[in-house]
Amino acid sequence: MKKNINQALNEQIALEAESSHIYLSMASWAEKTGYHGVAQFLYKHSDEERLHMLKLIRFVNERDGVAVIPAIKQPKETYKNLLEVFQSILEHEVYVTNEINKLVELSLKEKDFTTHHFLQWYVSEQLEEEAMAKQINDKLKLIGNDKMGIYVFDRDINSMFLDSENTDTMK
Ligand code: FEO
Repeated sequence: MKKNINQALNEQIALEAESSHIYLSMASWAEKTGYHGVAQFLYKHSDEERLHMLKLIRFVNERDGVAVIPAIKQPKETYKNLLEVFQSILEHEVYVTNEINKLVELSLKEKDFTTHHFLQWYVSEQLEEEAMAKQINDKLKLIGNDKMGIYVFDRDINSMFLDSENTDTMK
């Protein structure tokens, strides 16, 4: 594996680790704030980001690169409300998509077609994650400050959104 590809994949490893940490912090905030359904959803989401990181680590090492396990900075601890949480998630996922796109571009420029093929899984995953984050934001905007609406959202978020998430992360 070329050095610049290895370096760029390591940056993505760090970003997936950071994503997992951010969602873990959000899950913990949700749990402490009484949003137990949202907490469950975010704990699972954090686990998925860790799997995204692992998948990259294993790929880099299998291809004779060197995967670097990153230090992770402490995420934000508190949020104003659920809308702030899910708006942050949407913004973060759009950022991750841009980073994946840059990696795809680099793999083509370097004619590294194996890495290009590998990255297609992340391209599809980002499409799903952005769509889901957008749907959740739309729902929360509709609910507004309606307490009953928030209660139902927290109760139903896992049945509404977890089933449609990609569960074949390690394939
Ligand atoms: Fe691994 Fe949510 O991107």
